Amino acid sequence: RLEKIWLTVGVSMLVVFLLVLGIMTFGRGIAPPNEHIHRIDPAKVSETPPFDKPQITKIGDNVYKAVMVAYAFGYDPIPLEVPAGATVHFEITSSDVVHGFQIPGTNVNVMVTPGEVSHVSHTFDKPGEYLIICNEYCGIAHEMMKTTLVVK
Ligand code: CUA
Repeated sequence: RLEKIWLTVGVSMLVVFLLVLGIMTFGRGIAPPNEHIHRIDPAKVSETPPFDKPQITKIGDNVYKAVMVAYAFGYDPIPLEVPAGATVHFEITSSDVVHGFQIPGTNVNVMVTPGEVSHVSHTFDKPGEYLIICNEYCGIAHEMMKTTLVVK
């Protein structure tokens, strides 16, 4: 009878273990397309969709998704261009160290941490050139790390 109890305990533990393993695998697994991805292997940014092809894509009526990669010392892709009035959903990650992603004059100001995907959105009503700057010290050329978003 004792053996039966131990067998039950053993099997139960195995089931719990497999369950936990399953949940962990699922949790860090590949997100379905068009779902927000929040975690990424920083060493494999260039081979992990959508960050293997950083780009701006139109996803609705003057709504755009900007998949971007921050690196020392710049941002992909370039150039960045959207029409006036466009709402842009930025999804950005880093392929090396912590960077910033700030567009002065807007509410856009996020930290870009390797291994994570930062999400921020903004509607660009006024045409012009918007500076995108890194505001986290990231190395020798930190001050030079910037790009431009053109709103036409
Ligand atoms: Cu990137 Cu400072």
